[in-house]
Amino acid sequence: MNETLRIQIIYGDSREELKQLADNSIDLIFTSPPYADRRVHTYGGVKPEDYVAWFLPISEQLLRVLKPTGTFVLNIKEKAENGERSTYVLELILALRKQGWLWTEEFVWHKKNCYPGKWPNRFRDAWERLLQFNKAKKFNMYQDAVKVPIGDWAKDRLKKLSETDQIRDNARNGSGFGKNVSNWVDRDSVYPTNVLHLATECGNKNHSAAFPEALPEWFIKLFTQEKDVVLDPFAGSGTTLQVAKRLYRHAIGIEIVPEYVEMIKAELETKELQLFESRANYEITQSQRSD
Ligand SMILES: C[S@@+](CC[C@H](N)C(=O)[O-])C[C@H]1O[C@@H](n2cnc3c(N)ncnc32)[C@H](O)[C@@H]1O
Repeated sequence: MNETLRIQIIYGDSREELKQLADNSIDLIFTSPPYADRRVHTYGGVKPEDYVAWFLPISEQLLRVLKPTGTFVLNIKEKAENGERSTYVLELILALRKQGWLWTEEFVWHKKNCYPGKWPNRFRDAWERLLQFNKAKKFNMYQDAVKVPIGDWAKDRLKKLSETDQIRDNARNGSGFGKNVSNWVDRDSVYPTNVLHLATECGNKNHSAAFPEALPEWFIKLFTQEKDVVLDPFAGSGTTLQVAKRLYRHAIGIEIVPEYVEMIKAELETKELQLFESRANYEITQSQRSD
């Protein structure tokens, strides 16, 4: 089977460029925008108090371009200043709900190798948010694609089952949850939790805020299938595009810093893609996939 994949890098400002994309055309938006007041010298910093107003016109476009079955995952983390955590991410969640998004889930990225450090009033920060938003309650989700090995605990725990292990054991608090431990016998993989334990290292990328490939990879597998379309409106070094391409998804990235656009192009080119220039943008079409 021969497939042509389209990887499009748009050099420009998401606030404008998103308007060029078609309604209901994207299956997954996966992105890490500039966090408030971060990296002011690299690509400007939006003040925490201005962040919601800055983001809402962008998310309005994201809402328009996302398919009703699609998902929007936002990687973000507020920092602490003057002894307090900033509240702009919480305000953003509420504003996005008012804009029409459903706040479906919050995943945690546990950074296994975060910087060591000590502060008088807090411990080192070892996690970031991945906020999941949807347009509708029913959306595409391919849970089997992210199953994980059941783990060594199962060997001993499942060797000898008690009587209660073999029937559904309902939670005592009346929550309606219950488990039948015997269901796990002979299984070697299980569904993961909403906590992702990933290292922060990002290869030798020349971008100060690149996330590890494993992060978009997990969500692309969970929310898309081959030939679906993935969008990253803050592409940075292009991690999302690289992973989408590797997993045979079409991808669109928007990036405002020309050096980063060049970096994405170079990276994709070295991975043997053909380059076609269109307007100020670059459309990269991958030739042939053979099964
Ligand atoms: C947190 S970084 C993304 C890093 C990316 N996930 C990676 O793995 O390399 C945010 C990126 O958004 C870009 N950016 C900031 N404002 C933008 C805008 N209005 N439109 C498009 N890109 C923008 C920045 O230049 C920066 O590269």
